[in-house]
Amino acid sequence: PAVSGVPHLLTDNDLSPKQLADIIQSACQFKHQAKVLGKPSGAPLAGKTMALMFSKRSTRTRVATETAVTYLGGHAMFLGSQDIQLGVNESLLDTSKVVSSMVDGIMARVGAHSEIETLAKYSTVPIINALSDLYHPTQILADLMTLHELYTPKGSEPHLTSPTTTLKDRRLAWVGDGNNILHSLMLQLPKVGMHITMATPKGYEPNPHILQQAQRNAVAAGTELGVYNDPDDAIEGADVIVTDTWISMGQEEEKKQRVKAFEGYKITTELIEKSGAKSDWKFLHCLPRKQEEVTDDVFYSPRSHVFQEAENRKWTILACINQLLVKKGF
Ligand code: CP
Ligand code: NVA
Repeated sequence: PAVSGVPHLLTDNDLSPKQLADIIQSACQFKHQAKVLGKPSGAPLAGKTMALMFSKRSTRTRVATETAVTYLGGHAMFLGSQDIQLGVNESLLDTSKVVSSMVDGIMARVGAHSEIETLAKYSTVPIINALSDLYHPTQILADLMTLHELYTPKGSEPHLTSPTTTLKDRRLAWVGDGNNILHSLMLQLPKVGMHITMATPKGYEPNPHILQQAQRNAVAAGTELGVYNDPDDAIEGADVIVTDTWISMGQEEEKKQRVKAFEGYKITTELIEKSGAKSDWKFLHCLPRKQEEVTDDVFYSPRSHVFQEAENRKWTILACINQLLVKKGF
């Protein structure tokens, strides 16, 4: 939302269907321009700084953002939880006022989602959610870009093809935890015309308020949303199977009980094929991957596109930053 006239990307519902499709296409254009044509960006962020305020670890989101800002000619400043006063000596309110007075944009990875809402309330510059306990919007942009690339017909180019045509009516199945990645998928998929089915163990279902919002998004788009506990029910008829760790950052102490609760949810070739996925099924995972949620034979198979998905974090974050800091809003 825009808070005091400043646009932010805090949740997936901050993007309309059109804005979402435009970001995916713009990400494909940047990728083509940089990797195929080898062209520089024209440095629209020259002299500008983006702060990365991260209270949790990150490989992909950090490398994607720092390299994206460099490509746009700006400076990325990483502020980890060990580096700044935030959370130890200083409040979110004061930190947000101070940091935003000196930089042009903030990418923030937080614990509770309310923390990023506080940052946005007091920030004078745009904030992009780099993961909270409830949402990971930029991850799903990369997932959708990857599927768009994979479903672009032979002979066409992703940067010249509309994602709404390649993604419409595709069916994605989630098997795993009702976590931030699932929440963001549930909200975004209807906006590109995709169906979603999910299977989570009892007690690990998605947040009911976010599920209701996702159901409203699906009704508005005319797409299906199926909620199950049994992985077979979710996978039947799926084009894409997706999972994530069963133990998100901050849940390390629950590892033992979670591994037990998620028995039967491990993604294996046998599970996918016996459950009746489409014959050309594909696999995605946001990474980092742990051993227990997916076998190596799926994770490293030609059906798995996890490393293309990881690289696309860069191009989609680049498109978001360009939209918010160069074009000044969505
Ligand atoms: N997928 C993802 O957000 O990875 P990082 O935690 O390494 O940034
Ligand atoms: N659900 C995971 C995603 C990591 C990118 C977590 O929050 O730790």
